[in-house]
Amino acid sequence: MAKFVVEQSAPLRGEVTVSGSKNAVLPIMAATILTGEPCEINDVPHLKDVDVMCAILRAMGGKIQEDWTNHTLRIDNSGINTSEAPSDLVQKMRASFFILGPLLARTGRASIALPGGCTIGNRPIDLHNKGLRQLGAVIRVEQGRVDAMIERYKGALVYLDFPSVGATENIMMAATLARGVTTIENAAEEPEIVDLANFLNKMGAKIKGAGTDTIRIEGVEKLHGTHHAVIPDRIETGTFMVAAAITRGDILIKNSVPDHVRPVIAKLMECGAVVNDEVEGLRVRGDLRQLTATNIKTLPYPGFPTDMQAIFMSLLTTVEGESTVIETVFENRFMHATELCRMGANIEVDGRKATIPGDIYRLKGTRVISTDLRAGAALVLAGLIAEGTTEVTEIYHIERGYENFVEKLQGLGAKIERVEDE
Ligand code: EPZ
Repeated sequence: MAKFVVEQSAPLRGEVTVSGSKNAVLPIMAATILTGEPCEINDVPHLKDVDVMCAILRAMGGKIQEDWTNHTLRIDNSGINTSEAPSDLVQKMRASFFILGPLLARTGRASIALPGGCTIGNRPIDLHNKGLRQLGAVIRVEQGRVDAMIERYKGALVYLDFPSVGATENIMMAATLARGVTTIENAAEEPEIVDLANFLNKMGAKIKGAGTDTIRIEGVEKLHGTHHAVIPDRIETGTFMVAAAITRGDILIKNSVPDHVRPVIAKLMECGAVVNDEVEGLRVRGDLRQLTATNIKTLPYPGFPTDMQAIFMSLLTTVEGESTVIETVFENRFMHATELCRMGANIEVDGRKATIPGDIYRLKGTRVISTDLRAGAALVLAGLIAEGTTEVTEIYHIERGYENFVEKLQGLGAKIERVEDE
């Protein structure tokens, strides 16, 4: 198994270009099941999770041309010939559950393994099932599987108890082919939801209000093929913004959308970093002022993203003063705090609140474990400023969600290598 070996590096400087969004492309790939006509998707990040979604669609009869020189996928699902998703692949990636809504709409049946929990939380799918049942689906959950059937979805009013990203996406995709109008209230408002709605509308869907807490979908008889470029990855953008601050460097982040990272910009500026929206991208400087503490509370969009929590915590271990981080979205998303403490950070965790004492405790390199995708990225950034060498293991988590992470960091002056672990 491979690991990253990270040495204490000089302040990162230069330019980096952000890839397409993982959390936008995965539901968009699932949405291609809604039509038998070919779809072309551009700016696709070449990630392990994308490979898994390709494998799932292929296993169900889809044909996919992968053109990684141009970051383009051509997906033709005219050959979909089963309602059963391959369990071994589904269990590799939670996002595969996003195919439930479209598969049911396309074939009238769906059988899919329960995605199960992960290190950051139990991650139930009750809101997905509740919403699809309100659209008329008959859903049974037994022995680790979801089995569902329907003649045709019927438009309905769906109120979400929590603005779940996945549930909003699954229900929105299903409702595109329903008889009548569906309204999703307390819907998730993430940019990835808007990107999915834009893709669906290009296929001929009638969706209004994506990006707000109320989405209205007027069902249509049929959807057609289309082509679409995926939005940039806002969490990758945030990761490189924090990389500039934590190393006290100066980075221009190209292919970034400032509107998608407003809370990250606000919190970095509260710490004393300088963030400018320049013609070519977002420029972040951590080399102009002493960085000081701030407090973070994660919330659904447009609040501070939970996916940036671990990465920002690494930064807060290096600033002057005490910070607090409150995690409201996932019940168990502080595993990285244990690893940062292994590096000497002395973070106190009490339930969903973490207290970070700041730079009175200098980080020292050691062997640490990536417990999930964002925790792994946070440890790599910590390794760039820790004394000595940091070995980050279980990096398959990181490679699920960051394209060419090592090369991009090296391009900014980072001392990082990917090596086989003995
Ligand atoms: C998406 O996951 C993202 N994944 C996650 O990013 C991200 O952390 C999350 O949204 C929140 O922003 C993808 O888009 C592929 P949720 P999702 O449904 O859809 C509870 C990353 O690092 N909930 O909004 O699974 C749930 O347990 C990943 O890229 C229910 O209770 O997130 C959680 O506490 C990690 N019942 C909260 O809602 C449900 O049916 C938010 O989950 C569904 C969710």
